[in-house]
Amino acid sequence: MRKPSLLMVCCALTLTLVGCNTSNQNEPEEAKSKPAETEQHSEAPADAPKDTEDEVVEETPVSEAEPSAEDKPTTDAPVVDEPEAEEAPVVESPTEEEPTQALEQNGTANVKLDTLILVNKQIALPAGYQPPDLVTANIDFVDTASGERRMLRQEAAQAIETLMAGAKAAGIDLKGTSAFRSYDYQVQLFNNYVARDGKEQAMKYSAPPGHSEHQTGLAIDVSSASVGYQLTQSLAQTQEGKWLADNAHTYGFIVRYQRAYEAETGYMFEPWHLRYIGVEHATAVHKANVPLESYLEQLMD
Ligand code: DAL
Ligand code: ZN
Repeated sequence: MRKPSLLMVCCALTLTLVGCNTSNQNEPEEAKSKPAETEQHSEAPADAPKDTEDEVVEETPVSEAEPSAEDKPTTDAPVVDEPEAEEAPVVESPTEEEPTQALEQNGTANVKLDTLILVNKQIALPAGYQPPDLVTANIDFVDTASGERRMLRQEAAQAIETLMAGAKAAGIDLKGTSAFRSYDYQVQLFNNYVARDGKEQAMKYSAPPGHSEHQTGLAIDVSSASVGYQLTQSLAQTQEGKWLADNAHTYGFIVRYQRAYEAETGYMFEPWHLRYIGVEHATAVHKANVPLESYLEQLMD
């Protein structure tokens, strides 16, 4: 009678102990696995930033350093673009209100001035600036002027066509030698002049890239057979040069770089360089006999 009871006690004890061990072993496993899964989930967002960082690194060469740093938190979400799109008008509105009349901002020309835009040694065109409405001017050009260099902004092209027709009617023989010049073309031109004459000398007759009126599509160089279509100051003594000095303004052009303006413009006398600003303003500049800089400063006051 005692034996079975002892056995039963042992079994009961064993079963209790095994049951306790089993439940004790399982619990920690589950407890471990749960935190592990939890960690994996919590690592998921940690992985996302890693991906994001990779993308940012790839984006860095394309976009500028600052925008990509701002993009970091939401790089791959289209949402990133929304704040940027919303921010843009906010940045633009003050510049729209304030400097419609301003000639420049931080050394950059105000393109909103349109045909009255001021570009000179101190004021550059915005990076990558391309005139909006370039067309080929239907006038005679020297053979060396080809392609883009026969182009002007539409209004200026029409004006030079009228000027050339007026000149022809007055027995004045002129040809265009160079109209629109891209930034890249001006780079080549300026560098060639610097290599030939040195920078100090080149700066007296050639604008550094980004600073040339030719890039605005509103300037054209003209010359005549009497000086072999060269860009020479002796053009001023020819009847063609004199006709230009006396009449260009009636077609909306000014002879931009006059001898008397050298100190203000920084360029030598260029009787061949015509700048379109429209008949009304060109007539006023001609009458006042002042550099465009002075005229516009007064006009925008
Ligand atoms: N010759 C003028 C200054 C120009 O290069 O634009
Ligand atoms: Zn010129």
